[in-house]
Amino acid sequence: MDFSIKTIDAKTSIASLKAGCIAVGIYENKKLSPQAQALDKSGEITAALKSGDISGKPGSTLLLRKVAGVAAERVLLIGLGPDGELSDKVMSMAALCVARVIATLGGNDALLALPFDGLAKQTPERDLAWSVRNTILVLRENSYRSDTLKSKKETTLPSIKKIGFLVAPAKAAAAKDAVAEGLALANGIDLTKELGNLPGNVCTPTYLANTAKKLAKEFKLSVEVLDRKQLEALKMGSFLSVARGGGEAPKFIIIKHLGGKAKDAPTVLVGKGITFDTGGISLKGGAGMDEMKYDMCGAGSVLGTIRAIAELKLKLNVIGVIPATENMPSGTATKPGDIVTSMSGQTIEILNTDAEGRLVLCDALTYVERFKPAAVVDIATLTGACVTSLGHHNSGLFTRHDSAHDALANELLSAGKATGDTAWRMPIEDSYQEQLKSNFADMANIGGPAGGSITAACFLERYTKKYTWAHLDIAGTAWKSGAAKGATGRPVALLTTFLMNRAAAAK
Ligand code: BES
Ligand code: MN
Ligand code: ZN
Repeated sequence: MDFSIKTIDAKTSIASLKAGCIAVGIYENKKLSPQAQALDKSGEITAALKSGDISGKPGSTLLLRKVAGVAAERVLLIGLGPDGELSDKVMSMAALCVARVIATLGGNDALLALPFDGLAKQTPERDLAWSVRNTILVLRENSYRSDTLKSKKETTLPSIKKIGFLVAPAKAAAAKDAVAEGLALANGIDLTKELGNLPGNVCTPTYLANTAKKLAKEFKLSVEVLDRKQLEALKMGSFLSVARGGGEAPKFIIIKHLGGKAKDAPTVLVGKGITFDTGGISLKGGAGMDEMKYDMCGAGSVLGTIRAIAELKLKLNVIGVIPATENMPSGTATKPGDIVTSMSGQTIEILNTDAEGRLVLCDALTYVERFKPAAVVDIATLTGACVTSLGHHNSGLFTRHDSAHDALANELLSAGKATGDTAWRMPIEDSYQEQLKSNFADMANIGGPAGGSITAACFLERYTKKYTWAHLDIAGTAWKSGAAKGATGRPVALLTTFLMNRAAAAK
């Protein structure tokens, strides 16, 4: 899809604009938006409303052809609910309506003459730029198909590929930036979805490493991939204990977008990259196990976010780190009760080989100390318990509870709110830490059934003492089950916005 910004001066009517389709809003109670009014010289739009063919409720649409006095071939009426009650949900619904209609429409291009700055009055952060970005994200979400591995591609992609946003001339520059941001974000989200949806026999640790190398080549980033020998030399005993069972070679990926000043401390993203999680010797049940191909969505979101900020040439130093391996049972796999020494020197009694995410992350979290980071955020499909506590709406956000960490938590929470890719903060406290006591090692890798997402975060916390750190548990948000099974691309929007805000603050 190709997005552009169109402006007209005050003297020109939108009725004179040529397009395959022009989309305008109408309100409930048969009320026309100013843009719809401008297209209604013949009274045809008013007549359509009177006929009851469109209610004006969010989600309602009506397509009119060859409206007298209108240069565009079609007028698409979009219901916006009651006048004066626009919300981000209504704007997203309007974008979805556009997406669905243009999927099957003839004509060359669509011009969107919707109230993109209609929300800013009540909610200043939902400005025109937000609406433009949001519309692009909804349109791209609607046209994404996970058909890479289907021999016949689905064909319901939009037949209209050119989409223009009609904005006032004074807003054109801001809108153009918003288009670039929306596109970069959509491209990052699509990459994350694609990696998540690819199965474990395709999206292996080596595949993730090759994806990072490709990104690095395309956007001139630096990339390094460490193999088993190098990881042994680094004494990553915990990460390697997970990689013992599988046939696929483990990879440790470091990708750097250094867009800031050389002296500026980097923000580091660490993504869990379990390309398939069988549970290992503590084998999972068979039902739905295919979904454990998504256990690399933390890694996928790191690569998607790096792609987005690289495309935007963000002026910030960001390093992505991905410990990637599969978690398989075999004759050489780690056994319950085995004790390993992590890179930090702390020993771990592995009571359950299915709690493997923390085992790969802890060594990565020790590794990143060398970057003297401004902050570290890890992203992981870490616990089923997080799905139990927060469901599929919010990612779990965990940090320590001091002022530096409260500040980082608030940056992440507000970046989530800004994009609808929300997180909810959870506690980390010493009382939970006690659940990780082991009789034989410095700690156990599980803390019992109570508060499972919190004890998992507490485990990671022990490896992050040297910097400001946050943990996002995305087990409930990274993919959908059921008929719409597939990766969501979350939390790329949250992370990208978080980094964009950091870059703006560093200016
Ligand atoms: N990858 C899973 C977490 C997960 C489970 C994500 C279900 C999404 C849906 C993780 O490695 C895991 O298996 N965690 C265990 C931890 C337990 C053994 C302490 C879990 O959540 O059951
Ligand atoms: Mn597991
Ligand atoms: Zn896992």
